[in-house]
Amino acid sequence: MISETLVYYSKFDPITPWRDAIEAVLPKIAVRAPDEIGADDTVRYALVWKPPLGFFERYPDLRLVTILGAGADALAGRGDLPAVPIARLSDPAMARMMSHYVLFAVLRYARDIPAFEIAQREERWDYIHPREAGEIRIGVLGLGELGGVAAAELARQGFDVRGWSRTPKVVAGVRTMSGPDALKPFLAECEILVVMLPLTPATRHLIGAEELACLPAGAKIINVSRGPVVDEAALVRVLLSKHLGGATLDVFEHEPLPPGHALWTMPNVLVTPHLASVAIPASAGRQVAENIRRVRSGLDALHQVDLTRGY
Ligand code: NDP
Ligand code: OXD
Repeated sequence: MISETLVYYSKFDPITPWRDAIEAVLPKIAVRAPDEIGADDTVRYALVWKPPLGFFERYPDLRLVTILGAGADALAGRGDLPAVPIARLSDPAMARMMSHYVLFAVLRYARDIPAFEIAQREERWDYIHPREAGEIRIGVLGLGELGGVAAAELARQGFDVRGWSRTPKVVAGVRTMSGPDALKPFLAECEILVVMLPLTPATRHLIGAEELACLPAGAKIINVSRGPVVDEAALVRVLLSKHLGGATLDVFEHEPLPPGHALWTMPNVLVTPHLASVAIPASAGRQVAENIRRVRSGLDALHQVDLTRGY
C-alpha cells in the first residue's frame, strides 16, 4: 500500500524513468506528476527542475525538495521555497558524463582539430606538429563535484592542470588556487580555460572583459556550467578581436540560444545545446531514494544546497 507521494516536475525529463527507478527501491512511495495527485496523496517529497512560481504552495506536507540536476541557481533566490531541506543530485555517473564532454572539448583543442576541420574543407594538407599533453596549460574554474572530477581526469591524461575555487582544495595532480586575488594570475596561465562554477550572485559575469583579456593570446574557453558566469557580449568581442582563439559553449545567457545570435555562426565557436551532462535516473534515482530514507528516519538529507551562498 502507498503511504507517501513524491511530486515530480520537469518540462524536459519524462517522469517514467524516474518513477521506475525510485518506486523500484521505495515501493511504498508513489511518484506522480502534479496533475496525477489526488485527495488521497500525502505529498512529502518533490523532485523538480525549474517548477513554476507558487508550485510548492500546493504541498504543505513537504519534507524534502530535490533538484533534478546539479545546479541550484534556478531555485536559489526564489521567495516561494518551503522551509524544508533542498538537496541536489550528486551522482558519479553525472560527473563522469561531464568529464567526457570536458575531455572531448579539451582534446579537440589540444590536438588542433578545429584547424584540421577548416583545412579539410579547403582541401589543404595542413600539418601542425602535435604538442605533448604536459606542455598544454589548462585551468578549471570551480573544483566541486563535477569540476574536481574533470580537473583530476585532465591531470590523469597528462595535461598541466591548475584549478581555482572559493576555498582551498586538494585535487590529485592539479595545482590549486583559491580566492578572488588569485583569479587574474590564474587566468594568465590558462591556454584552455574550463568554466565549471555554479551561477550565484558572486559568479554572475565573473568572467568579463578584463578577465578575458588576462588569458594568453589565442587561448580557448570551454563553458559547461552556466552562461551568465561569462559576460557573453564581452566574449563575442574578444572572439571577434581574435585575442581568444576559440570557444566551446554548452550554456548561454539565454537558452535556447536565440536565432541570429552572433555565436551561432562564428567559425571558431562550437555550440552544443546544454547537454554536457544530464540527470541519469538509473543512478541518481537511487540517490534520491536514499535521501528519502534518511529524512524518514530523522537523519539530515545529504547533498543539501546552501541557499545563502547559492550552491
Ligand atoms: P559544486 O557546487 O560541487 O562546486 C562548485 C565549485 O565552484 C566549488 O569548488 C566552489 O568552491 C566553486 N565556487 C563557487 N563559487 C565560487 C566563487 N565565488 N569563487 C570561486 N569558486 C567558487 O558544483 P558542481 O561541480 O557539481 O557543478 C558545477 C556547475 O555545473 C553546476 O552548478 C551547474 O551550474 C553546472 N552543470 C552544468 C551541466 C551541463 O549540462 N552543462 C550539467 C550539470 C551541472 P568551494 O568548494 O570552495 O565552495
Ligand atoms: C544541471 C544541468 O545543473 O543540467 O544539472 O545543467
